[in-house]
Amino acid sequence: IIITQGKYIASAVRADQYPEGDLPEVVFIGRSNVGKSSLINSLSRVGGLARVSGTPGKTQTINFYELSAKIPSIEERRSFFLVDLPGYGYAKTGQANRKVWAKFIEEYLLKSPRLQFVCQLIDIRHDPMKSDIEMFNWLVENNLPVLIIATKADKLSKNAVQKQVKQIKKVLGVPDLDVLPYSSVKSEGRSDLLDVISTVLVE
Ligand code: GTP
Ligand code: MG
Repeated sequence: IIITQGKYIASAVRADQYPEGDLPEVVFIGRSNVGKSSLINSLSRVGGLARVSGTPGKTQTINFYELSAKIPSIEERRSFFLVDLPGYGYAKTGQANRKVWAKFIEEYLLKSPRLQFVCQLIDIRHDPMKSDIEMFNWLVENNLPVLIIATKADKLSKNAVQKQVKQIKKVLGVPDLDVLPYSSVKSEGRSDLLDVISTVLVE
């Protein structure tokens, strides 16, 4: 599929702030600084669409971006939302704040009728951390389809990427899990991810 446009639509911390309509949604979740906002920029090819920062905790609200795509296989255009979430596993906000975070994110993940699947991002340079494993298990328990995206793949050699993909599956305890290596810097994995997204758009 070919992305023809990407634009910011809305930010939300409550259900009544979610955008109206029935466009399908793909959501990005992961530890602070793992590269969620960068991935949204690389998918949309609109630089600066989602705010990126070297300091963890940049994204604080649920942010909706609408992408338009041409789908050659069905000769049609489709629009959909990419949904950026605040990162988890970042201690500075403190315990009380983290509980608030968990609640409004949880509400979104459990209640959005348009959510198609969850992309959980894990930094390819490290094994999944405790918070990643807990999040993954929570998503699975709640019957949310998960695609694991191993980010910052440009930081490792090709061999090391393959080795770490296996390691991520092992640590999460699911040998046949889909794990997609991705580099927002090099746009690696972009067409694979767009292929996955197109399967939910043509259904
Ligand atoms: P929060 O909003 O704080 O939860 O972070 P985030 O997950 O949205 O991460 P963000 O996209 O802001 O990126 C964090 C840092 O990682 C930035 O300095 C990015 O430039 C860097 N980064 C993101 N993706 C990649 C990548 O694919 N390769 C490399 N080398 N750096 C990346
Ligand atoms: Mg972000």
